[in-house]
Amino acid sequence: MDPHLKTLLDELAAFGDAHDGDPANRAIRMLNITPDTGAFLAVLAKATGARRILEIGTSNGYSTLWLADAVADVGGAVTTIELAHGKIEMARANFARAGLDTRITLLEGDAGTMLARLFDASFDLIFLDSQRSAYLDWWLDVRRVLRPGGLLVVDNATSHAEEMADFTATVRTDRGFTTSLVPVGKGEFLAVKA
Ligand SMILES: C[S@@+](CC[C@H](N)C(=O)[O-])C[C@H]1O[C@@H](n2cnc3c(N)ncnc32)[C@H](O)[C@@H]1O
Repeated sequence: MDPHLKTLLDELAAFGDAHDGDPANRAIRMLNITPDTGAFLAVLAKATGARRILEIGTSNGYSTLWLADAVADVGGAVTTIELAHGKIEMARANFARAGLDTRITLLEGDAGTMLARLFDASFDLIFLDSQRSAYLDWWLDVRRVLRPGGLLVVDNATSHAEEMADFTATVRTDRGFTTSLVPVGKGEFLAVKA
């Protein structure tokens, strides 16, 4: 990884920890993935040869930067969705600082609304890290926009397993998917589409 990007990611990880640890920021936490989850996402993106990535839940762009850097070598790109205006501004600044802004399209608005507008089979890898109570409602569109052979990765699968139990049960019993739960970071639920 480029040392400047490594420095920025370390800075953002430290910022996220300090910011989210302050009770005054409870309503506006960054809720970033852990650094080992970022490294895991990068391995998954590279190992699967992903070029078109969709992320649902940008926050200030920490995970987006891991993903965008991972696909840079193959000329890939990341589309990421976020509805909080303050976080969108922070993410845009971080994308520019990393020099990865040309590889990232930030869709501003509700993920359910945005998902409905995306084309069938248009993504190789989808990273879901957003409003857990909505995952089941989003499932048919997530399923539709993931290409055959594509990989879905869902964060917080052990830290908030109960909140997404209906969703993960639905994916696990879908005959079109093969799933696995990986104990990295807050728990990554993987589902590969047949
Ligand atoms: C866990 S954070 C994402 C963290 C980010 N992936 C990272 O690791 O840096 C979840 C984000 O989803 C956003 N969000 C929640 N509900 C949403 C919705 N319906 N549509 C789009 N974004 C939403 C929140 O504003 C929040 O920034």
